Amino acid sequence: MSAVTDFTRWLSTDFLDANTGLEEAYFALGAEIANNDDLDQRKRVLRADGAALVTRIDGMPGDPYDLLGAVGLYLAACRRHEVNVPEAAQAVAGRLGLALGVAPRFVFAHLSTHNPAARTFTHLPDEHTFITCNGLAVLAYQRAAAALRRIPSVTKSLVAALYDEAHTALAAVLAANQALARTLDPDRFFRNIRPYFKPHPVCGTEYRGANAGDFAAVNEIDLALGLCEVTDPFYQRILAEKYPYLPPEDQPRLRTPPSNLRSLVERDPDHVEKYHAVRRAHGAAYAFHHHRLVMPFLARPAESAPQDGLTASGPPLEVVLATLSRLVDLRTARDRGLRK
Ligand code: HEM
Repeated sequence: MSAVTDFTRWLSTDFLDANTGLEEAYFALGAEIANNDDLDQRKRVLRADGAALVTRIDGMPGDPYDLLGAVGLYLAACRRHEVNVPEAAQAVAGRLGLALGVAPRFVFAHLSTHNPAARTFTHLPDEHTFITCNGLAVLAYQRAAAALRRIPSVTKSLVAALYDEAHTALAAVLAANQALARTLDPDRFFRNIRPYFKPHPVCGTEYRGANAGDFAAVNEIDLALGLCEVTDPFYQRILAEKYPYLPPEDQPRLRTPPSNLRSLVERDPDHVEKYHAVRRAHGAAYAFHHHRLVMPFLARPAESAPQDGLTASGPPLEVVLATLSRLVDLRTARDRGLRK
């Protein structure tokens, strides 16, 4: 059997069982992580078994992005259980990242839109819920972005249908976010799922954590609706920071932003109502993300938790919250004379 087959088989068996067992033990102790002789031994076995398999991988067999996700899951699990990863194993991820032009770590796409093997870290039902609802929201954002991108090139009688398609898709984003808020257990998320998304080093460079926002469509929508501008230094930082964490085929979409539909409706007001309906749906979905996901599932539990490693990106929570709330203002067109 090839080294990759051995490794990916381990990921879908012993790796899953080991993580699940450790998560249940931490949860029973009411902690995000715990140490004792038994747990420490289990963490060491996880680290050593994975390292032995990863370091056998030579060259770039199969789909390199899929392989990066597989290796990335192992690196993230080591970070989560606070065991260091041998440099030779990190170097496998480093080589794949370099070849693909992406950050050499797992990102949310490796669990959702680019995950034919249906990999997860654990067997926990809350992890499954988290990946599925987030993934459904990503797919819906992608449908909305695809519809908006086509508007400038279709004949006038087709424009309304594309706005309607985008509107329906953004309503589906909101519905997926609502389903997540209803079904995800805040304690399970905070203690057993979020810790796999933390920043970690690869060959000496620290890479920020993964989050469900690492795809281009949400930004394509911002730009298509004229809610954000690439010339705005704040927004440019958002795009540039996100770029290495996008799946390879998303990267060109950020390099060639869609046309600004706001100037189109200003010139020809026939579709102004539909434009505003789409804009409101985008704002509503994102405001929900902020107030009903970020706050109850991250900010509130964080009040009684150690402050390091709380956010996916790494900066202190209040800095991340300030950035996210500025994005809420932009996406809901607050103070922009656009509300209707
Ligand atoms: C429990 C659920 C969720 C929590 C706690 C959460 C939290 C966060 C946090 C803290 C960030 C900032 C990352 C950082 O810099 O550390 C973020 C970013 C982001 N999240 Fe979520 N999120 C959740 C679910 C979702 C879902 C379902 C979506 C839908 C696709 C989503 C879309 C985004 C986007 C697009 C960003 C990037 C920033 C932006 O462009 O707005 N998130 N999220």
